Amino acid sequence: MKHLIDSMDLSLEELESLFELARDIIKDESKYNEVCKNKIMGALFYEPSTRTRLSFEAAMLRLGGQVIGFSEASSSSVSKGESIPDTIRTVGSYADLIVVRHPKEGAPRYASFKSPVPVINAGDGGHQHPTQTLTDLLTIRQTKGQLGNQTIGICGDLKFGRTVHSLIKSISRYEGIKFVLISPPELKVPEYIKKEILIKKNIPFIEIETLEEAMSEMDVLYMTRVQKERFFNEADYVRLKDTYILDKEKLEYAKKDLAILHPLPRVNEISEEVDDDPRACYFRQVKYGMYVRMALIANMLEVV
Ligand code: NCD
Repeated sequence: MKHLIDSMDLSLEELESLFELARDIIKDESKYNEVCKNKIMGALFYEPSTRTRLSFEAAMLRLGGQVIGFSEASSSSVSKGESIPDTIRTVGSYADLIVVRHPKEGAPRYASFKSPVPVINAGDGGHQHPTQTLTDLLTIRQTKGQLGNQTIGICGDLKFGRTVHSLIKSISRYEGIKFVLISPPELKVPEYIKKEILIKKNIPFIEIETLEEAMSEMDVLYMTRVQKERFFNEADYVRLKDTYILDKEKLEYAKKDLAILHPLPRVNEISEEVDDDPRACYFRQVKYGMYVRMALIANMLEVV
């Protein structure tokens, strides 16, 4: 049985076929709206979510399937002290596929060991978020026409941002990728990612502290929010939260075909005046997230 826990669980060939399927769904969704008839997805969200949970649910409904689950652990037996493996075994008796978001790093993997059905990691603490990476890669692919041979700027909370970790790991496998990593010193990409991915694979990267320094070089700019819920200390969050605000003025030095992405939610990192700029991709990205999850569910349930 195949689970999706880490963004490296999918090979480049598997990614390509998922994107192809997503594109076909976008082209003619009606071909797919009954493929998951009689299938049930369990969605277990132990942490807040808007896009990930609702896009998974919408994806399953648009495929003709049904959804069960909870969006707050407090409304389930978790509040009585039930362990994740026990909850997973239970929900796995009712559902054909389980999507889990959890504040503890590694919880979805741990859950998958006991699961009778495939498990998808919908975000585990500050660790990984592989389906956001599917969303990000499809958005880049559709917008820029390719995934390799570009300079990817990633800005904000690179330490706790799980979408950042999954994206760096996955996109590093394409030829000709260079990274510009923009963060305050306290929020740099964790050493293990630098050592195990960037340094080990000889991928060019620079670490800088201001957006302006490298604005003109970037083909993609991935903005992120400072991850308030992962801070131990409120004062540090308050000090760092508005370090980067992308606005029209900063974009004057950017390439004309820059693609601006953000996993959302945005707090302050992108000024609303940027939303109408043709380079802003983040709301389109939301939609790609649903289509790529449709492709993923259909693929994991082997109905296409
Ligand atoms: C991200 C997450 O949950 O990690 N959101 C999302 O799933 N689109 C990013 C974030 O919360 O900042």
